Amino acid sequence: MNDPAAPAAPNRLPVVGHAPAFAREPFAALERWAEHGSVVRLEFPGERFYLVSDPEIVATVFRDGERRFTIADQQRRAFADVEDRAVSTAVGDRWRRLRGALRPAFTREAVERCAEGIVERTIARTETWTDGEEIDLHREMRLLTLEILAETLLDLDLRGDEDAVLAATDALVARSDPRRLGAALPEWMPTPTDRRFRRTVRDLESVVERALETPRGEGENARTVLLEAHEASELTDREVRDNLVALLLAGTDTSALALTYGWYLLSQRPAVRRSLVAAYDDHVGSGRPALGNFDGLEEVEHVVRETLRLYPPTWNTMRQSTESVVLGGHRLPEGAQFMLPQWVFHRDERFWEAPTAFRPARWADESDRPEYAYFPFGGRPRHCVGARFARLELRLALAAMVGRVDLDVSVPEPLSFVPTLSLRPAVELSATVRHR
Ligand code: HEM
Repeated sequence: MNDPAAPAAPNRLPVVGHAPAFAREPFAALERWAEHGSVVRLEFPGERFYLVSDPEIVATVFRDGERRFTIADQQRRAFADVEDRAVSTAVGDRWRRLRGALRPAFTREAVERCAEGIVERTIARTETWTDGEEIDLHREMRLLTLEILAETLLDLDLRGDEDAVLAATDALVARSDPRRLGAALPEWMPTPTDRRFRRTVRDLESVVERALETPRGEGENARTVLLEAHEASELTDREVRDNLVALLLAGTDTSALALTYGWYLLSQRPAVRRSLVAAYDDHVGSGRPALGNFDGLEEVEHVVRETLRLYPPTWNTMRQSTESVVLGGHRLPEGAQFMLPQWVFHRDERFWEAPTAFRPARWADESDRPEYAYFPFGGRPRHCVGARFARLELRLALAAMVGRVDLDVSVPEPLSFVPTLSLRPAVELSATVRHR
């Protein structure tokens, strides 16, 4: 039987297709287009995407990953020349080998050993802020998550080199903006944005190489497990360096955005903020949050989950078919690129009551919604390797901040975003600090 092709979404213009509508209001456009079927076709100059809005199809795409679906060209191009030897873009046997080498650094025990360092770094950062000071919230959260990641999980001394990490992340974000003019050019024609990305990543590689020369502690962390795999001849020295670079690029801005949006949402809903502070005072009091006094503090967990629902730092996941496939009753060609946008699923009225409302309490009740109505960390087998670390980091860092400061975020409403690899705010978010 012939399965029909996926229908095109509305608002398509001759030649430029859906690009103008997407450029105008990317997130609202995707939400609207998703209403037109479980798989709809989006046309961009030189490129075609299939937008998926059925959680069952997401499950199939993730589950059959590697065999029938792989990293999409769009994602591979964003990292091209840089991370070919890193877990985030490798495919097949190389991906399995790299992912396996990293696994011991992300066990529960290894991640929980980072808890004290997470709290310590967070308190130290809050102490750099003076009462009444106005801070650039996103930048401060980036510095915080970078210090946490470098000092705990990666065990690398990057003090003084923070700007190299921020510059490479900014360049990656700029390069992955599908609306930029150069995005439609062939890969062999590098644009100034591409050159900036390569230059900043080379700088970051040198920073990591220098940091690796300084001896550090023992115990299982990303640095020691990668170096052990190198000694066992399972990884080359470039793979060690490139995977540390990849962890820095994947693991700082994502967590920083979650903390930024968490504070933004708490500022919008003072009642939620007050009950969070009260719960903190009950559980932790004047001490520090730690694994022992923290587990009952469900309010923090709910705020984190709800923030990742409304503003998922990775707002879209891409995959590409390696063969012709039938999904949602539609025949799709080999090489089809799929968008599985967390943003759309996390705000779908079929799965969420009042989807645009910030209601951390909704997480107090179990719900029978489908598994992929909510997937801020992607899906197995290629889900976020840092998810366990990120969840602990977000809970502990948010709690440690709530115990010490109040951040009042001011932003010209409504908040808008840039549709790059991560969900960046389109405007600077500044926050006024009040020490408690
Ligand atoms: C709130 C924080 C975070 C979010 C929302 C997030 C989200 C994600 C998502 C959705 C993916 C899957 C991408 C795909 O399927 O194409 C992913 C992959 C990945 N993440 Fe995270 N992440 C976060 C924090 C971190 C941290 C802290 C680290 C490192 C310590 C990290 C390292 C990685 C790596 C290396 C991959 C690629 C894994 C692979 O391809 O096997 N992430 N992340």
